[in-house]
Amino acid sequence: MKNIQNVDQDIYAAILAEQKRQSEGMELIASENYQSPAVLEAQSSVFANKYSEGFPGRRYYGGQENTDIIEQLAIDRAKKIFHADHANVQALSGAAANLCVYSALMNPGDTILWMDLTHGWHLTHGAPVTFFSKVFNFIRYKTTLDGKVDFDQVRKLAIEHKPKIILAWFSAYPRELDYEKFVEIANEVWAIAFADVSHIWWFIAAWLLKNPLDYGFHVMMTTTHKSLRGPRGALILSKWIVSNPLKKPEDTIENIPTRIDRAVFPGMQWWPHMNTIAAIAVALKEAQTPEFKAYAQQALKNAQTLATELTARGYKLVTGWTDNHMVIIDFSWTQLDWSVAEKTLDKIWISTSKSTIPDDPNPPFRPSGLRIGLPAMTTRGVKEEDTKKIVEFIDQALKNKDNEKNLAELKNKVREFSLSFPVPGL
Ligand SMILES: Cc1ncc(COP(=O)(O)O)c(C=O)c1O
Repeated sequence: MKNIQNVDQDIYAAILAEQKRQSEGMELIASENYQSPAVLEAQSSVFANKYSEGFPGRRYYGGQENTDIIEQLAIDRAKKIFHADHANVQALSGAAANLCVYSALMNPGDTILWMDLTHGWHLTHGAPVTFFSKVFNFIRYKTTLDGKVDFDQVRKLAIEHKPKIILAWFSAYPRELDYEKFVEIANEVWAIAFADVSHIWWFIAAWLLKNPLDYGFHVMMTTTHKSLRGPRGALILSKWIVSNPLKKPEDTIENIPTRIDRAVFPGMQWWPHMNTIAAIAVALKEAQTPEFKAYAQQALKNAQTLATELTARGYKLVTGWTDNHMVIIDFSWTQLDWSVAEKTLDKIWISTSKSTIPDDPNPPFRPSGLRIGLPAMTTRGVKEEDTKKIVEFIDQALKNKDNEKNLAELKNKVREFSLSFPVPGL
């Protein structure tokens, strides 16, 4: 970082401080991870200098022989991993990608059937505070008492409201989904089945969880950071639907992949970030290695150890278990507010994030749950025995939340533990 050091001391100092925080502390936010050194290099490559409006082979500016290669590689790798007919790799983030999918498949005023806020949704699934909710009509379904999606309610609402899209997958949902049921209901009302697998796609890539596209879903979106360990971006994956039997689907304007490409460009975005696309291609290559599969398997074991150990220490978990990398602690029945829990853990440099619980009695900015995940710590090499130590740190911190001296001692232990698991590339 000699160049940054010479040009901008302030930014250089902030980067060093963040490196220290990331290596001496513990990242337990389920959506965060460490980009691999190869991904970081691709992202800061000369592709950042290039304007590439359009798609491979169909650009508006010249000099695209190398950008076409990287974008086509990213597309081909994404299609292969997810068994998709088509992949768009240009959306700048998950939020932008969701908006592109909505605008590709719906007109203003159309309805989407989606999960209720407190049962696990993401803001981009139509939170009232977003622009999305001004344009489209979002109807909500919920989970039943056991935490599973209430399919009777999904069917009833689908028949009543005739949504254009039925959306599955969420931000805070620790269980596997029944995709056949979603597709059955979507087909019954002529809706498009859309999965936002931003959180769990790595388990899909490692064949540890089912792939919605294999079960009849039409469209799937995933962010490329989080567990993929790629740059901040998104993939929109889809299947051809033959709307005109006299033409090949790829030659019809009304097919889903073409509508998605057009919604991304020129509908919502102009210039793709080619350095990010190069980094996505690298991350997708890494995701096909045996090491990546082993990493996902270890992450699942760690998450289930986390669930077992927390339960053994008397913590109540939303749905009582996890099938993926997320564990959500329900504090609604204790005196301990999530914000106290989050702030206490922050004091010992363990980062976590707040989460709603089903039918949360508290407002979204002060919900009753705490979401914990170990994707980032698994990248650093944490295994089941280490996970037990992490639970011990969490438990000790929460029990000593008012004892600053004990928290300071605990912070030193967390630092020592964290430093024994180096951050890749640091
Ligand atoms: C399920 C889901 N969808 C979409 C997003 C939005 O992604 P981004 O942060 O890239 O806009 C997130 C990110 O938190 C998410 O969890």
